[in-house]
Amino acid sequence: MTTADIRKRFLKFFKLRGHTVIPSASLVPENDPSALFTTAGMQPLAPYLLGQRHPAGKRLVNIQKCVRTVDIDEVGDNTHLTFFEMMGNWSLGDYFKEDAINWSYELLTSKKEGFALDPERLYITVFEGNADAPRDEESASIWKAAGIPQNRIYYMPASKNWWEAGQNGPCGPDTEMYYDSTEKGLGDLTHEKFLKADEKQEVVEIWNDVFMEYLKKEGKVVGKLSQKNVDTGAGLERIAAVLQKKKCVFDTDAFEPIMKKLDEFSPNGDQRAKRIIADHIRAAVFMIADGVIPTNTDRGYVLRRLMRRAFRHLDILGIELGAIAQIIEVLTEAYMNIYFLSAEQMEHPYQVILREEEKFRRTLEAGLKEFERKIRDRGGVTGKDAFDLYQNFGFPWELTKELAESKGVLLIGMSAGFETEFQKHQEISRAGALRKFKGGLADASEMSVKYHTGTHLLHQALRDVLGSEVRQKGSNITSERLRFDFAFPRKMTDEEKKKVEEIVNEKIKTDLPVHKITLPLDEAKRSGAVHFFDEKYPDEVLVHYIGHSLAGSYSKEFCGGPHVTHTGMLGTFKIVKEEAISAGVRRIKAILM
Ligand code: ALA
Repeated sequence: MTTADIRKRFLKFFKLRGHTVIPSASLVPENDPSALFTTAGMQPLAPYLLGQRHPAGKRLVNIQKCVRTVDIDEVGDNTHLTFFEMMGNWSLGDYFKEDAINWSYELLTSKKEGFALDPERLYITVFEGNADAPRDEESASIWKAAGIPQNRIYYMPASKNWWEAGQNGPCGPDTEMYYDSTEKGLGDLTHEKFLKADEKQEVVEIWNDVFMEYLKKEGKVVGKLSQKNVDTGAGLERIAAVLQKKKCVFDTDAFEPIMKKLDEFSPNGDQRAKRIIADHIRAAVFMIADGVIPTNTDRGYVLRRLMRRAFRHLDILGIELGAIAQIIEVLTEAYMNIYFLSAEQMEHPYQVILREEEKFRRTLEAGLKEFERKIRDRGGVTGKDAFDLYQNFGFPWELTKELAESKGVLLIGMSAGFETEFQKHQEISRAGALRKFKGGLADASEMSVKYHTGTHLLHQALRDVLGSEVRQKGSNITSERLRFDFAFPRKMTDEEKKKVEEIVNEKIKTDLPVHKITLPLDEAKRSGAVHFFDEKYPDEVLVHYIGHSLAGSYSKEFCGGPHVTHTGMLGTFKIVKEEAISAGVRRIKAILM
């Protein structure tokens, strides 16, 4: 089944069941200055989930363009994309769990009208319940009645099966559909084995039905909405991969023409580099078509960063300046009839990308030389160097960081020197993360500051739970998430992760003040403030501590800041990933919601 067939079938199925097809909203959210990009189909529909009447009625269906940059480092694996399309059907105070679930099941399995997936390969998760909402036995029994055996239905906590629009807005439990895409089939799985299979991407989440009947204010569920809504989301590219029996989204028909073109240009080139180019250029085309232009802040910076990363990989593959024109042509052909009215309208993205490529590629070589020189001179690059590379050669700091990582060299003093230089310039992306987004007007630098304080709390909580020998190896903050690398010999257990989350959230709840003091180096060390043993510090250092006094503080670290004034500002802390990045070094990604 081609991607075009999947689109058609999805829309038609719901049209026949009383839904009105509405067009995709722009990637640039309207009337929501806190949001950089549309990250989910429900985002543009939020007012209607809250009760406003939608002109097209109570049953809607569409395919929404989305951009999520939180997992940009993962692009190139089997499932991650920055730009993707989400198919969804909505009930705005109309049908609820019964119809939503039965239709999902029917569409997935029906040979005649749907995707003809094997029901024996479906696994279902439902919400296990908490203080906000009961265990979702209702959904489980609807699934059972539809034909899913009890032992393939798993109850999951809110961290997995609760969907919300950040701190404020409609929210509710969800039920998620997973498909076993292994060759021989996994058969029945215990709860634990299912989680493992998910981690190994042997089962893939293909659809999510959210039952939005609750309202959150300032991070707390305050009651029910005036109406019960259904919000569903099925990733088009993932469904295509499953239906086309491909392990990887880049092997589906949607990406075939662009991957073929890249193969032509570079027959033996690195596959991951090609995937990154394909993803980033596709995303750039769509962003520009929706009115984003490359700049040094906000959306424009995200766009610029995506483009430059793609150009850099083109360069790695030895693909010449200008070849990109053909890549864009291929994209235009593929999407013209779906989103663009005419080839003329594609002229604008085309021109913007070409200009940006020329600008960047002209300085790329010189910038790389400069980078090498800095490494030769000092054995690493400092935050200041990264800033120079950015200013003089247009290297987004993430590129410098990536280059440093690929060379195995240090970014010296990244956290302090770099941060002050970059705070103003750092990527501003969505204030939310993964599948969530945050309401309110918190702008990106504010979010980055929150993540910085969150990182300190996480660091200390890890020491509490895993032992004080936990050592920071690296840290990276965007406005969407924090990333923390630390030396530890094994995978963390679920209980340990949970415990760490609980501690951090408890410290947020108690709303501890964050203080900064300057201390003579000796005294700072004696205070027990966390610092790098092998780093040279000046005679006086800045220490940030979280708590009412230095002696009684929960966390203290050598650090230049900036931080929030009170931990209560952080919201809810959640670990979204814990993985190994090299022998003995673990990486945690966490978000604030
Ligand atoms: N809003 C839900 C999601 O994005 C459907 O997964």
